[in-house]
Amino acid sequence: MDSKKIRKKFLDFFEKKKHKIVPSSSLIPEDKTVLFTTAGMQQFKDYYVDKESPYGSRVATAQKCFRTSDIEEVGDKDHLTFLEMLGNFSFGDYFKEETIGWALEFLTEECGIEMNRLVFTIFKGEKNVPEDLDSKKIWISLGADESQIEKLGMEDNFWGPTGNSGPCGPTTEIHYDLTGKPCGKDCHLDCECGRYVEIWNLVFNEYYQDEEGQLSSLKSKGVDTGMGLERLAMVIQNKSHVFETDLFTPLQERIDSLAESKKEERGKRIIADHVKGAVFLISEGVKPSNTEEGYVLRRLLRRAMRHAKILELPKNSLEKISEVVFEIYKDDYLVATDKESVFKVIRKERKKFEKALEKGLKEFEKEVANGKLKGETAFHLYSTYGFPLEMIKELCEEKKIDFNQEGFEKAREKHKMVSRAGAEEKFGGLSEDPDKNEVKLHTATHLLHESLRRVLGSHVKQEGSDINSERLRFDFSHPQGMKKDEIKKVEEMVNQKIEEGLEREIEEMDYEEAVSKGVLAFFEKDRYPDKVKVYSFVDSSGEAFSKELCGGPHVKNTAHLGKFKIKKEKSSGKGVRRIKAVLN
Ligand code: SER
Repeated sequence: MDSKKIRKKFLDFFEKKKHKIVPSSSLIPEDKTVLFTTAGMQQFKDYYVDKESPYGSRVATAQKCFRTSDIEEVGDKDHLTFLEMLGNFSFGDYFKEETIGWALEFLTEECGIEMNRLVFTIFKGEKNVPEDLDSKKIWISLGADESQIEKLGMEDNFWGPTGNSGPCGPTTEIHYDLTGKPCGKDCHLDCECGRYVEIWNLVFNEYYQDEEGQLSSLKSKGVDTGMGLERLAMVIQNKSHVFETDLFTPLQERIDSLAESKKEERGKRIIADHVKGAVFLISEGVKPSNTEEGYVLRRLLRRAMRHAKILELPKNSLEKISEVVFEIYKDDYLVATDKESVFKVIRKERKKFEKALEKGLKEFEKEVANGKLKGETAFHLYSTYGFPLEMIKELCEEKKIDFNQEGFEKAREKHKMVSRAGAEEKFGGLSEDPDKNEVKLHTATHLLHESLRRVLGSHVKQEGSDINSERLRFDFSHPQGMKKDEIKKVEEMVNQKIEEGLEREIEEMDYEEAVSKGVLAFFEKDRYPDKVKVYSFVDSSGEAFSKELCGGPHVKNTAHLGKFKIKKEKSSGKGVRRIKAVLN
């Protein structure tokens, strides 16, 4: 059965069980607390909690997912960055009995997998959550032997939430025995020998975890299951690696046809995985950059480039390989007409990194001739030549030298302190020569600061600010995580002020006078000159929305800022929150 058939079989099976088939959502989710869609349930998160599902209470999907959590494992038998997750979901409808029964029926009857090759894990009970005896009973009633059931704790058999908070619960997982024999007497489910592969995760969402990590019971119980299509294809197609399934063989063949050396299997797999991931991210509008999704994309492309270099692939190989990704997914997710623009992005990034890669590698080789890599040099490779961290670690591994994490972190801290001192002198966290976007983001920072105070309260105080040409980062005092509707309100307020077209006004006055007028200042008096500048943004009736002591620069009118979007809200120390936001 090829992967297309498997995907269809899964969706048909659940359609027959009265599920609505919903299309895959984007890899870039609406939920701002996460960068990527990492699981099928992401687009349905609210339907477990307080919103009614517009699709009814049973749905099934094949969902595009992207995960960076396993990026260092890519190249082994079953870890990937981009994957497709097959899932069925219940929002207050069926629960354990049906979920487990259908999962077994699908695997054994539809896919022809032998029951005795399966191992089932259940939650053993931990941290006030009881042991999942029901799942055990159900597996046994369906013919599982006691010896096929293993009990594990929170770490393995409790899932979620995605992001800072959300639905979560105990799981029961299905593992497949690939070899049928233990590698030794200590062989276990997670054994490095690769005997087992986890294929399906059945999550019973009974709890809601808040930002502080506290669990409370959900009003109605839900189900969220996820099965990697690549792994299921590997089992059904009787392969020992996901890279040998039809979702990868065309890519492997293209790489082989371009490669001089036929060795370096792991490098070839990394290229196949990373190019595939990159094509999907680019086709969803992500561009390589130094922040967030853009930086993940950059890391994929740069790491793929280095492996291409080791394999001595011709220069434009990444583009040639990415063509094959379109072949594999053209009927499902990718549109052939996007090809050229995807190639362009890859080409541009390749050209940008080519020289830095050469130079950085030379520097690396020179230094490690002494048998070690200094933290300073590792940081230099990272910051000056743009080497992603996992690439530096991989280089060290290949040379069998230790990566000096501590030294690297120290160098990074030192660098941060130097740039922070410079930035604070300018009161805005801006670089020496701010580009247009930095200026816009600086103005947006003022609007954000005031909006936070109006929505959350006047206890909100700036704790830090950092701006680059792509995003703003703002740290502020607030005792707990922001709720979803608070984030929305703040976002709406900033956008409203942008639309109102507030005018910039600059006044010079004494520090004392400014503070007595209620102007926002965030450093002690001795950090400011005697005469300070006050930047206000004023509406057409002359009323100031925000007034702050600042060194500028700022835009003349807020109307030209674009659309303000909060990408992330998270903790940044005790009582301090951090927002990352962009202007589109
Ligand atoms: N959310 C679970 C997972 O990602 C099951 O879909 O594994």
